[in-house]
Amino acid sequence: MEADHDVESVDPGVMNINVMQKLDNKEKPSGPGDLLSGSFKAAAGGTILKRYSENEKNCFELLMKDPLAACVPTFHGVTERDGESYIQLDDLLNNFDEPCVMDCKMGVRTYLEEELTKARGKPKLRKDMYRKMIEVDPHAPTEEESAQQGVTKPRYMQWRETISSTSTLGFRIEGIKKGDGTCNMTFKTTKTRDQVHKAFLGFIDGNMIILVIGSSLLFVHDKKSKCNIWLIDFGKTTPLPEGQTLDHRIPWEEGNREDGYLYGFDNLIEILSSIAS
Ligand SMILES: Nc1ncnc2c1ncn2[C@@H]1O[C@H](COP(=O)(O)OP(=O)(O)O)[C@@H](O)[C@H]1O
Ligand SMILES: [Mg+2]
Repeated sequence: MEADHDVESVDPGVMNINVMQKLDNKEKPSGPGDLLSGSFKAAAGGTILKRYSENEKNCFELLMKDPLAACVPTFHGVTERDGESYIQLDDLLNNFDEPCVMDCKMGVRTYLEEELTKARGKPKLRKDMYRKMIEVDPHAPTEEESAQQGVTKPRYMQWRETISSTSTLGFRIEGIKKGDGTCNMTFKTTKTRDQVHKAFLGFIDGNMIILVIGSSLLFVHDKKSKCNIWLIDFGKTTPLPEGQTLDHRIPWEEGNREDGYLYGFDNLIEILSSIAS
């Protein structure tokens, strides 16, 4: 399986945290900037609805028959709401009291090789991506890119993985929501081991955390020290071609399809263990 995420999506952190807010405020009208109000909906019986993706549905069908089933939200099939299709999943926050939630996106890259190839097919200069780039790092563009006030999409895609810990540690923090409802989505450039360590400490917030091993990892704990970790988000997880396998630890080179999932996992465990000891 190769886990990945849509490069066209909103910048890392922004969307997930908005979902966290959304799910937390089920009964309230969605606030400004609630980017994903269309993608997630509250549903009956402790479940939520996530906008349908065939990929993700297929993954959940397989996962329900897999030993990993205990580590993912239970899948309750596909359902229609207001003319849209959704997958119905257990609401993982259902039995928590003022939960703190952290979403860690796993892997050394978050786009598919196919997406890179596709982006190369349209080598148009993107001014919007240039602007996003200089917002984060005014020195990131080359002289030529600065002169053109534009960067190509493949260049932007590859650069974006280097500003967080994705390319170096094999995972990045997408967002953290505290028990009081406050959200932190400023992890776009959280890159070094030290910065990640600090962010984890902020999440743990003095609470005990039990590491239950198992695309994104969703960490949840609450004021009663109830905690759990789940695997979520299989929108870009697809079966590998027949006969192909991945190591999930060796570095990615274009063409080898490696995703660095276990490499990220190793680093994550190492940092969490250093906090525990
Ligand atoms: N089953 C679930 N129960 C509770 N919260 C969830 C569930 N699935 C997702 N979430 C929340 O929504 C966020 C985004 O979910 P995810 O599946 O990663 O969507 P996307 O594909 O938009 O990134 C997660 O970070 C988590 O906070
Ligand atoms: Mg996600």
